[in-house]
Amino acid sequence: MRIVVTGANRGLGLEFVRRYHQLGHHVEAIAREPNKSPELLALAAAAPGKIRLHACDVARDIEARALPVTLGDVAVDILINNAGVMGQMLPLDQLDHEDMLRTFNVNALGPLRISAALLPHLRRSTTRKIVHISSGMGSISDNTSGGAYGYRMSKAALNMACRSMAVDLRPENFKIVVINPGWVKTDMGGPNAPESVENSVRFMMDRIEQLTPEQSGTFLHYRGHTWGW
Ligand SMILES: NC(=O)c1ccc[n+]([C@@H]2O[C@H](COP(=O)([O-])OP(=O)(O)OC[C@H]3O[C@@H](n4cnc5c(N)ncnc54)[C@H](OP(=O)(O)O)[C@@H]3O)[C@@H](O)[C@H]2O)c1
Repeated sequence: MRIVVTGANRGLGLEFVRRYHQLGHHVEAIAREPNKSPELLALAAAAPGKIRLHACDVARDIEARALPVTLGDVAVDILINNAGVMGQMLPLDQLDHEDMLRTFNVNALGPLRISAALLPHLRRSTTRKIVHISSGMGSISDNTSGGAYGYRMSKAALNMACRSMAVDLRPENFKIVVINPGWVKTDMGGPNAPESVENSVRFMMDRIEQLTPEQSGTFLHYRGHTWGW
């Protein structure tokens, strides 16, 4: 299979690249500056032709539109929209709306841009899976602690985008979900997070492998159960 991963230079994205490659798949690793990640460069150098690196800022239309050309005429089986930012965590009376718009652009519009750009590639495969990495913080029903306006709103918007995409593309047998990866020890999750990158990605890969048409348009927890909107 051929898997596209955004935000592939560190954190969860880098682990997706490593694990899918270990399983023998082709990986198209997308990052803003792939050549600045020693780990990603080392993985790609050890797997010529199997791991390809592509520079793309998911917040920029022009770069997303160039991606299909860079990828070439290949079929893509699975797209993992993983790139994301936390943005600033400010109280209601001090919100930085420009920062919130940047967060929305990456977290909510980024996955839409990349999915739309790569639709022809996904249509060349019969697998047709799109996975958006959302967050428990994007759940409205689970929000009992408030705050994190930009991040929470951007992930809730991503969840809605996922549902519309799943409905629109169901006739073509696409399977499209949002996954809550848990609270994970990455630069974003911080050192106090209870879950390891390895576990989170391993469980998410199980979810992706077992994805059914009936699950399309749902919000999954990485451990397997459905997460509340
Ligand atoms: N860790 C957690 O506890 C946790 C919990 C819930 C959800 N998530 C979600 O999981 C995903 C991965 O997060 P992580 O924990 O691995 O965080 P991370 O270590 O901070 O990595 C974030 C990744 O996103 C990339 N990225 C950010 N803006 C981008 C842009 N405009 N274009 C392309 N790539 C961009 C970063 O690249 P640069 O190096 O270029 O910035 C980096 O590769 C995110 O969507 C996040 O919201 C994480």
